[in-house]
Amino acid sequence: MGKKEKATLIENLKKHINLKPLSFHTPGHKNGEIIPAALQNLWPQEIWKSDLTEIGNLDNLHAPQGCLKEAQRRAAQLVGAKKTYFLVNGSSVGLHAALLALSYQKQIFVPRHVHKAVYNGIILAGAQPISLPVTLDKDLGIPLGIEPEVLEKYIHLYPECKLLILPNPTYQGISYKIKETVQLAKERGLTVILDEAHGSHFFLHSDFPEDGLSLGADLVIQSWHKTLPALTQAAVLHVNRNYKGPDPGDFLRMLQTTSPSYLLLASLDGCRSWLEDVGDTLPAKTITQICAFKQEMQDLKNIRIISFSQGEVDPLKMCLSSNKVSGYGLADFLFENYHIYVELAEVEYCLLIFGLDIPNNQLQLLGKALREIDKSLEPLPEREKTRFGQESLLPLSLLSPQKAVYAPKEVVSVEKALGRICGEYIVKYPPGVPLVIPGEVISEAVINTLREDKRGLGKTNVLVVKPGEEKNHGW
Ligand SMILES: Cc1ncc(COP(=O)(O)O)c(C=O)c1O
Repeated sequence: MGKKEKATLIENLKKHINLKPLSFHTPGHKNGEIIPAALQNLWPQEIWKSDLTEIGNLDNLHAPQGCLKEAQRRAAQLVGAKKTYFLVNGSSVGLHAALLALSYQKQIFVPRHVHKAVYNGIILAGAQPISLPVTLDKDLGIPLGIEPEVLEKYIHLYPECKLLILPNPTYQGISYKIKETVQLAKERGLTVILDEAHGSHFFLHSDFPEDGLSLGADLVIQSWHKTLPALTQAAVLHVNRNYKGPDPGDFLRMLQTTSPSYLLLASLDGCRSWLEDVGDTLPAKTITQICAFKQEMQDLKNIRIISFSQGEVDPLKMCLSSNKVSGYGLADFLFENYHIYVELAEVEYCLLIFGLDIPNNQLQLLGKALREIDKSLEPLPEREKTRFGQESLLPLSLLSPQKAVYAPKEVVSVEKALGRICGEYIVKYPPGVPLVIPGEVISEAVINTLREDKRGLGKTNVLVVKPGEEKNHGW
């Protein structure tokens, strides 16, 4: 037994490739023997050779007994989880599985700034979201998180609701009152799902905000591909030691493909071994480098690195804002003149994400670009700032999101959408936090946002539920 079971995925993958095997199985590229010409010079043949399927000693993601079981066990051990599941469809599939496991036709507390993937899970599970108002940053209008007192109030109002989902950190890297919130939820007997899509690296170093497993969240979902060296879509779902609910694995077996990509799985296994190697030494060095860089950039006149006064901020994130151009303008300057691509641009700021290991000249190049842009902005007049409120409005919801998705619909112009029940998501991607979700009434504030296009949604028509449907279906 022992020896074969203890091999990791990458070891078994290497052994398999070294056998120079003949493929009479899927996939159809036959270990890279048949490569479309358009891709021949783009991907080395080695990549195709690693794109294997569940054969020989490569185990089976849906019933892991060998190297995948070992790879997941090592990942769980690294972060202190009871169990870890590898995901090949991003955090999205982890969130869907967690929500199907825990919220099927039940109430769930949902801060209104969760990602669209959370609402999709809620729709699949037929859950009833109880929206919690979110505190907004007063300068940028971006959501920070919920106040624990607000959660306390809602727990009293909805004593039957026993489930809470929290995004931590936000897309911009802000972790807001999360410790107090999780603690309160646990004391009141709630199960907590933490969407840690942007915080996979938090457990590595104490200068990052605290990670969800240490905070005591029950299920923690992380997009390793977002901030760690893993391929796009590679993600994990961790089950915490205190968790006693239904196994999310049962739902992952329904939702995940039966042909998982071994490139993605190997990238998770490789990433885990990289994390073991770097420990906290590399993150410490990187954090020091980034802090020094942000300090150096303090003397820019027309570009500002935003320092949020509330909550803890992930050092790997940097929001830039300018008194002369919008966040879109800054992003355009960076890519048009320097081929520097940012993660996200909004009216008031743009967001850059650093990796955990920064190549030598990367900060120099970015610093040079920012200094040149800063100078070139000098002659421009000051632009008018967008004004934002401090607390999110809670939209009225007349149909559950699931019922709204199935209800008959029609398309109307934005001008005619006031007071109608929305039949779709109105959402800008990134960051993927919906302005309106299916079932919610389109308010004056939403119409104004769409009309002025404050969030860059570029929307002229809206899909709405046909009149009277709320009477036919109820909430
Ligand atoms: C907060 C948050 N949660 C979940 C997701 C979905 O993650 P993935 O792209 O890994 O499916 C995203 C993606 O941007 C996100 O920002």
